[in-house]
Amino acid sequence: MKTILVTGGAGYIGSHTVLALLEKGYSVVVIDNFSNSNVEALHRVEKLAGKQVKIYPYDCCNKEDFEKVFKENKIDAVIHFAGLKAVGESVALPLRYYNNNIISTINLLNLMCKYEVYNIAFSSSATVYGDPKSVPIYENFDLHVSSPYGRTKLIIEDMLRDLSVANPKFNIALLRYFNPIGAHPSGFIGENPNGIPNNLVPYITQVAIGRLKELGIFGNDYPTPDGTCIRDYIHICDLAEGHVLALNKIFSGCGLVTYNLGTGKGYSVLDVLHAMEKAIGKPIPYSFKPRRAGDIPACYASPEKAFEELGFKAKYTIDEMARDSWNWQKNNPNGYENK
Ligand code: NAD
Ligand code: UFG
Repeated sequence: MKTILVTGGAGYIGSHTVLALLEKGYSVVVIDNFSNSNVEALHRVEKLAGKQVKIYPYDCCNKEDFEKVFKENKIDAVIHFAGLKAVGESVALPLRYYNNNIISTINLLNLMCKYEVYNIAFSSSATVYGDPKSVPIYENFDLHVSSPYGRTKLIIEDMLRDLSVANPKFNIALLRYFNPIGAHPSGFIGENPNGIPNNLVPYITQVAIGRLKELGIFGNDYPTPDGTCIRDYIHICDLAEGHVLALNKIFSGCGLVTYNLGTGKGYSVLDVLHAMEKAIGKPIPYSFKPRRAGDIPACYASPEKAFEELGFKAKYTIDEMARDSWNWQKNNPNGYENK
């Protein structure tokens, strides 16, 4: 049985991916400092899978702690989710982002070299494409970033590209996620943002449960059919499955590969709002607000390369994504805190 180290495994994407890995028969070790998550997520994953996860409540920026994980386990591959991800906060606190995201990754890569673990999937982001010249976005498009958060993703991608040139033993999958939403259909695990959500769907579900008053839609004068921005929303379980398929590729000895993980379909903010209203069964109050700095009009993936080379194809529809987002929120109004 192969052992996968999942950094940031208690987080939103991490917890769903850990479940998918356990279901595929992998043994899973998680390192997470719980700076943006709760250990309860992993306990629920264990219940859903009927299997245990080995949990290290450590910070990847602490080299000595991190090394214990490699000393005590024979790791076959790493999926590296750990990182801070709030774009706006990264503009206000760039050093926090460079410290956390870059130092944790340098520690990880040094340990992987030292312990001869040469297989890694990295959580990159569609944000590395900046404002693309056209849509859909292909993996070979130019890379531009406009926030410190995005720059940490690009720097880490560059580090991994350099490493694969220097050491051909490395198998590296750079996975560029589009917009993950939804939750496990059980409603047992889901997205649990701290404070007021920055992202569209958790904001809508928190309006629906009465924690927030109304949705502000950032801009209705974009050059899109209804004037609101278009994104490629992907169900979190499809995204988790993409990691399992990426591991197959990694274990086949792939060198460095780069994939978009998206659906290839674009939905506007109003499309998402209407899908959510259908799932929730009532209208969501909203008003139009000025554009949010840094937003681009349209962003959706070409999913072809991931389909051809990984066999990855997103299965869930936007209505199913909305259903599962709402199912999670209504069953867990306080997230992983007490019921
Ligand atoms: P998340 O915040 O839910 O999960 C990240 C996890 O990493 C959290 O559990 C957090 O506690 C942990 N963590 C952060 N810094 C750490 C450190 N120094 N040491 C140990 N643990 C640490 O975020 P997510 O949505 O699950 O995203 C996972 C990854 O995917 C991130 O790298 C993020 O940048 C990337 N990504 C996310 C999205 C998205 O929309 N959610 C889109 C593109 C890329
Ligand atoms: N939006 C609103 N109101 C809100 C929140 C969002 O109108 O309260 C709009 C945004 O303006 C945007 C769309 O909803 O048009 C989606 O916004 P999100 O914040 O949910 O997602 P983004 O596309 O801005 O960014 C997400 C992640 C980034 C990642 C990017 C690409 O947050 O980390 O997808 O993967 F880089």
